[in-house]
Amino acid sequence: MTRQRVRLLLVEDSSDDEVLLMHELRDFGFDVSHIRVATREEFLRALEAGPWDAIISDYMLPGFNGLTAFSSVKQRGLDVPFLIVSGVIGEETAVEAMKAGVHDFLLKDKLGRLGPALTRELRESAVRAERRSMQEQLLLSDRLASLGMLAAGVAHEINNPLTSLIMNLDHALNAVPEQQLSLEGEQALRNAFECSLHIRQIVRDIKVFSRPGEQRLGPVELHEVLDSVLRMAWHQVFHRARLVKEYGQNMLAVGNEARLAQVFLNLVINAAQAIPEGRSSTHEIRVVTRLEGADAVRVEIHDTGPGIPLELQERIFEPFFTTKDSGVGTGLGLAICRRVVSEMGGRIGVKSQPGQGSTFWVHLRAAQSALDADAAPRTSLSGSEA
Ligand SMILES: Nc1ncnc2c1ncn2[C@@H]1O[C@H](COP(=O)(O)OP(=O)(O)OP(=O)(O)O)[C@@H](O)[C@H]1O
Ligand SMILES: [Mg+2]
Repeated sequence: MTRQRVRLLLVEDSSDDEVLLMHELRDFGFDVSHIRVATREEFLRALEAGPWDAIISDYMLPGFNGLTAFSSVKQRGLDVPFLIVSGVIGEETAVEAMKAGVHDFLLKDKLGRLGPALTRELRESAVRAERRSMQEQLLLSDRLASLGMLAAGVAHEINNPLTSLIMNLDHALNAVPEQQLSLEGEQALRNAFECSLHIRQIVRDIKVFSRPGEQRLGPVELHEVLDSVLRMAWHQVFHRARLVKEYGQNMLAVGNEARLAQVFLNLVINAAQAIPEGRSSTHEIRVVTRLEGADAVRVEIHDTGPGIPLELQERIFEPFFTTKDSGVGTGLGLAICRRVVSEMGGRIGVKSQPGQGSTFWVHLRAAQSALDADAAPRTSLSGSEA
């Protein structure tokens, strides 16, 4: 059995008691690394230097006590198991501490309870952390859905005047007799025309991504979706890798455009994040599409990042599995990808060897024509074989 690792902040003025406590925890089976602090200043500095998995504090300390230490932890909004271990305590003090929210109060001559108490508090704190993270995620996806709705609305509103703008510029360029336009005038018109085409592309990209809640399956032009995704991801990609497209012909898949766009965006961003910045000429992200037999299409995203160890290749699809720092990754990307793809009757998986990059592949049913896509039977498969 692997020993549970604990980074412990010990607030204790006696080094003898430190030895006793550490002995007890290691005997119980924890793999503890700790530092001991004895004054308020040291304690506050150690709090800043965290994170800590748990804090164990004596009650009576020089210049402060266990309760004031605990209130500093609360003030900082930290949710760390906080146990007080004291030589002597009155019943009133113990009650006051528990009321303040201290997780447990133990006596130094009954340390046998320390291991089980810490185990319980670590478990409960992990449950609280997971719940918080899921709530945050729900809020986030809620917010993204409303943002998507807003963006789709704005894109729709822009579309009509934009179409008229493009037609008028086109008319001005082609229908106005040349001699009536100065050279600069024509240059300016051309410039305006190109800008308006660019705006149309941006509006189309926004529409691809922002159809929240829409689940309808239809024939999807894979290359159009992939091109939108690659434009969206460009800022994350260009300083890390060159981008290579290796597209097959006529890739029409059964799926939902907006949700497929999310899947491919996740995969491309993951590929970019796996590659360090700054050596973009030696790294590559390659997007490959091809037909697979008569009724399937396959999209592959290859990268030249560090690869993924074999034992993690299934785990990375679990919700909340991440190796990234908090704030960078929540570990939901691939879990969502797998759910979305299997809802479309497709499959997603990875092939990777450490040191040799990774290839994420997505298999989708091919749509021969617009009619086929609606008529095709829906199967729900999920798997990870290549
Ligand atoms: N192309 C890749 N190369 C190497 N490792 C990868 C690659 N793609 C994913 N991984 C590994 O899989 C883990 C899970 O990926 P996933 O997309 O689910 O979450 P995340 O990227 O960590 O966070 P999120 O997508 O929620 O922002 C990553 O943390 C990383 O360790
Ligand atoms: Mg990701």
